[in-house]
Amino acid sequence: MKLAVAGTGYVGLVAGVTFAEKGHNVTCVDIDEDKVELMRSGVSPIYEDGLEALMRKNYKAKKVEYTTDYKSAYKDADAIFIGVGTPEQPDGSANLSYIATVARQIAESIEKDCLVVVKSTVPVGTNDKVEQFIQDFLINDVRVEVASNPEFLAQGSAVHDTLQAERFIIGTESEWAENILKEIYEPFNIPIVSVNRRTAEMIKYASNDFLALKISYMNDIANLCELVGADIQDVAKGMSYDKRIGSKFLNAGIGYGGSCFPKDTQALNHLAQHNGYELKTIQSAIDVNEKQKTLLYRKANDRLITFNGLKVAVLGLTFKPGTDDLREAPSLENVPLLLDQGADVVAYDPVGAENFSKHYPEGKLSNGSIRYVSSVEEALEDANVCFVFTEWPEIKETSAELYKGLMRTPLVFDGRNIYSIDVMETAGVEYHSVGRRISNQVTKQKVMSNGL
Ligand code: UDX
Repeated sequence: MKLAVAGTGYVGLVAGVTFAEKGHNVTCVDIDEDKVELMRSGVSPIYEDGLEALMRKNYKAKKVEYTTDYKSAYKDADAIFIGVGTPEQPDGSANLSYIATVARQIAESIEKDCLVVVKSTVPVGTNDKVEQFIQDFLINDVRVEVASNPEFLAQGSAVHDTLQAERFIIGTESEWAENILKEIYEPFNIPIVSVNRRTAEMIKYASNDFLALKISYMNDIANLCELVGADIQDVAKGMSYDKRIGSKFLNAGIGYGGSCFPKDTQALNHLAQHNGYELKTIQSAIDVNEKQKTLLYRKANDRLITFNGLKVAVLGLTFKPGTDDLREAPSLENVPLLLDQGADVVAYDPVGAENFSKHYPEGKLSNGSIRYVSSVEEALEDANVCFVFTEWPEIKETSAELYKGLMRTPLVFDGRNIYSIDVMETAGVEYHSVGRRISNQVTKQKVMSNGL
């Protein structure tokens, strides 16, 4: 089939390249000329495992093309997928202006019957409006319908999540639309759940928000575990054997970030309010998450009394490993608090430092300073305290001895529960994590910059 994809972010680019991989002829459209040139040269504008290899292979085989010329991409496409962003607005609702722009361009370009497929996450009912909008602006006498096909890929495993998806959701209002989407997805050999358009839109929010709720629930239980002397990791393990609960998304920590969970919880909450309904479960998930993000900062602040003049190692800046994305990352909330208190932050992240330095350039900042280093060892050298914000493999593999040997005071606050408490204890590290006991606990005590 001849397909076009609007937007080359995580959703659009991965969809376009995987469609090409499965035999379709795809044109990916983006407004950014530099980005298009970059993609033509085989470079991915996003950091995503396995994506560049697929981009190069399919570009060489002429199965995928990149362009800013939307007119020629859309005019004779069998289906056009929309994968542009729907950023959160200050009131929690989704900004649909990018979708509207693309919808208008589609209406003015298509010259044959065409199915428009919205992959972007949009509030329930939006696709009805998109269809009406396109029909209103249509220039040629052609059949056009809008279908919903929400995307469930996670960053860092986007290609795998698409090629080995657990299901595809298609939301259509006619057999014609349903059949086109079934034909497009047929080569993937993955179960297809076919529902109506509004239901498909809701499945996306309900799925993401359920996972956000699951994480916030575990964080809530973790905080309670600390108060009553239970261990959250063992609690999660015990729960995971119950197939109704499952073993995934039970990791307590410093909260969820990224481009989906924070935005989609706000959006569903907003949708509920708009319809006169109070979605108490999701509001609670949002509240717990907000508080959880600065949990370690508050714990450390209480323990140290002040960060002023202390060298603070920060390990991990991105919202999760396997991505350079900083959206809603806990580091973005904690680092400014540390800087305000006069800390000298030394940060390490294998891929996220460059993006982070755009927000916080190296040098003196607020009452402290920030420096970026290229190894865990450099960050730990002479540090008075260390925070772990992201569980990158090289951070997970850092030994307790290294913390003990390199830091001026071996005091670690781990937001991802990646180390064994017993091992840290034996090595002589004072180790704080989330929902677990503290090793080598020292009560409130001022740590001086010379470590005493
Ligand atoms: C998520 C969904 O997984 C995906 O299906 C959807 O399409 C987009 O949103 P993503 O945001 O890329 O994907 O990452 P994910 O791996 O789901 O993690 C989201 C956040 O939850 C991260 O900050 C992660 O650290 C946190 N998390 C995840 C936990 O705190 N505990 C867990 O057990 C799992």
